[in-house]
Amino acid sequence: MLNKKVLDVLNSQINFEFFSSNIYLQMSSWCDYNGYPGCSAFFRRQAQEELVHMNKFFDYIAEKDECPLVGAIDAPATEYKSLLEVFEKSLEHEKEVTSRINNIAAVSFEDKDFSTFNFVQFFITEQIEEEANFRKILDKFRLAGEDKRGLFFLDREVEQFNTQLLSTAGTATA
Ligand code: FEO
Repeated sequence: MLNKKVLDVLNSQINFEFFSSNIYLQMSSWCDYNGYPGCSAFFRRQAQEELVHMNKFFDYIAEKDECPLVGAIDAPATEYKSLLEVFEKSLEHEKEVTSRINNIAAVSFEDKDFSTFNFVQFFITEQIEEEANFRKILDKFRLAGEDKRGLFFLDREVEQFNTQLLSTAGTATA
């Protein structure tokens, strides 16, 4: 069993991970439609990864003999001015995720719920990597600006980066 406050923040995170997945799925669609297949594949992978996160929260709550709750999920944005804006919004979103994960750690620690505190450590580490990946790509897009040739090559670079992330995930045991 879990304390009500801890359970509430965990259930809320199930919802937020679903929301994250939908945001990235929609971004993947925007990229594909606007001629950036590399970035589209990157966001498609991100969308799938968010579902893995969602399932981790879902399973943890169930393992603690509680009933996971899904709830209503907000619709993601569909319009972006540029590819740069897509990545800016992604990093902004990941910072919000980090803040929510930190809150789960704080609430569980305050409740002396060390089981949840230990569970959430995976996500604390994960967020360092997620923010770093988006920041790395974003820096390159800021340099490229609106130059079409630059964007074309960056899209291919993101595709290669995505393949690299996929092969790393394939060899990971977590
Ligand atoms: Fe589930 Fe991108 O954090």
